[in-house]
Formats: sequence, structure tokens, C-alpha cells
Amino acid sequence: MIDFLKIWGKSSDTVKRKFLFFILIDKVFSLTTFFSKKTFTVSTSGSSGMKQRLQKKLNSSNKQNKQSKVQRIFSDVSNKYDLMNDIMSFGLHRTWKQELINNIKIKEQDTILDLATGSGDLLELIKKKSNCICVGYDSNVKMMMQAKKKLKGQKIFYVNGMAEKIPFKTNTFDTITLSFGLRNFTNIPKSLLEIKRVLKNKGKFYCLEFSEINNKSFRKIFHFYSKLIPLYGKLILNNQEAYSYLIQSIKEFPNQIQLTKKLLNAGFRKIEVFDILDGIASIHISEL
Ligand SMILES: C[S@@+](CC[C@H](N)C(=O)[O-])C[C@H]1O[C@@H](n2cnc3c(N)ncnc32)[C@H](O)[C@@H]1O
Repeated sequence: MIDFLKIWGKSSDTVKRKFLFFILIDKVFSLTTFFSKKTFTVSTSGSSGMKQRLQKKLNSSNKQNKQSKVQRIFSDVSNKYDLMNDIMSFGLHRTWKQELINNIKIKEQDTILDLATGSGDLLELIKKKSNCICVGYDSNVKMMMQAKKKLKGQKIFYVNGMAEKIPFKTNTFDTITLSFGLRNFTNIPKSLLEIKRVLKNKGKFYCLEFSEINNKSFRKIFHFYSKLIPLYGKLILNNQEAYSYLIQSIKEFPNQIQLTKKLLNAGFRKIEVFDILDGIASIHISEL
């Protein structure tokens, strides 16, 4: 300090002024830094509330997009839906659906819900087997109109609504069937919980859906063939989008094991799985 005062005494006025100016600048700068620290808090943590809220918004907008896309696609293809199924699968979808129905034990007094009934193929097979009480349920009215036309005169109740919110009381149905619908649902876990809720105790849920082919070479052949399907869509319906969606949804859908896990998570306990054509499709039979 003494050395500093000696130097200060010997310095010219210009040097003293410059020194005081630097001190002033330094204080102003540290003051700004001090306030900056107090005023702003930026969190870059991966689990920040901001990121979670954004993720939630993104998920809900993806779900809304899927829901309106699925709705539009099935409205567009409804009047040629059956024809396209026969062409794409060489008629095989009919035997797969028959296989599902063969597995069901139906009593006359049973109440059956056919979820995502579409043009009513399963309802037709159920009615051939038994005169039980049948409800066809689907989110798309145009698809159900095809079922009504096809099954004219049959005593079937049709209800329009989403699988994610089924408008029936808990413990209503003895059996629930679902063919090629699950992969189109907006929220699969929520739909499975709803299925479980409206199913009676000891009731069974039969689900037929595309799956994963076990044999590698056969899987490659199917992948090659599936690339042609959007072209059929373009040629027959002038709608490539619908059948590109079909192939994409098959690719993204859980395989046999992953679907079994989802069923277990929803609360189903006894689950049997049958592969059809080495896993092109599979039937999951689940009991509570
Ligand atoms: C590929 S079709 C299957 C129709 C019929 N089960 C069959 O096997 O031919 C899928 C059906 O699921 C219906 N769907 C899609 N999302 C749905 C949802 N969230 N709730 C109820 N039905 C839905 C569609 O409207 C469409 O009729």
C-alpha cells in the first residue's frame, strides 16, 4: 500500500485519470455480471420441466395427426376395402379370419364385441357360427356402412366410437374380437385397458394382427412384395397414400413378443399366441 502511494504521488495527472477510469469500468462490469447471475436461470438438464412439457405437446399432436390420418384413409378406401384385401392377400385374409373364429367357443346367450369391425368380416363369420348377440364397433361410419350393407337383415348392433374410450359398462362382453385394427389405434395401451374393462371376468380377447415373420428369407420376400402394395393402391383406387400407410403401420407394429408384453401390462394374464404363415400374422388369445 505504501509503495502504491509513493507511485501515485509521482504519477502525472493523465496517468492518474486513466487509472481511475479503468477502476470505474471494472466495477461497472462486475456489477452487470452480478445482476446477470441473479436475473437469469437457464436449465439445460435433459429432464427439465420445459422439455417434458414440449415432449407431451409433441406426443399429443402426433396422436391427433395419426387419428385424423387413419380416419381419412379408411373413409377414402371404404367402398373398395374388401376388394383390395382380396387382391393384396390373394384371398388369404379370409382363411386367417376363419382361423380366429374357429378358436372361439360361442354360446347362444353370449354377447360379443367386434372391435374395429370395419366392413364386418368377423361379424359375418361369428353369425354363421352362432346366433349370439353381436355388436360391431368402429371409429369410421363409412366402414361400418359397408358392414351394414353386407350383413343386411342380420341382427347386429352397430356403434360408432374410438377404442380408446369404449362407451359400454365394465364387465359387459363375454368375448371381444379384433382383426387388423390394433395397429391403427391412436393409443394402444389405453385401448387395451378399455378392452380389459368391458370384458367380463373369464372373458376372452381374440386379436389377429400382422406380426414378424420368423424365417429370414421369407421375411425378405415379404418385404419385397410389400413394396408393390402401394402400387396396387395407386392402380386400383388411385390412392397410393392409403397403402403406403398400411405397409408403414405393419413395419412399426410390435412383434409377437412385444404385443404379449403390452397385453401383460394391460393386466391380461393367460396369453396364447399362434403364428399364421410363419408369423406374417399372429393370433393372441388373452384372458383376464
Ligand atoms: C384394417 S381395418 C380392419 C377391419 C376389419 N376388422 C377387418 O379385419 O377387415 C381397421 C379398422 O379399424 C378402425 N379404427 C381405426 N382406429 C380406430 C380406433 N381408434 N377405434 C376404433 N376403430 C378404429 C378403422 O376405421 C377400420 O375400420
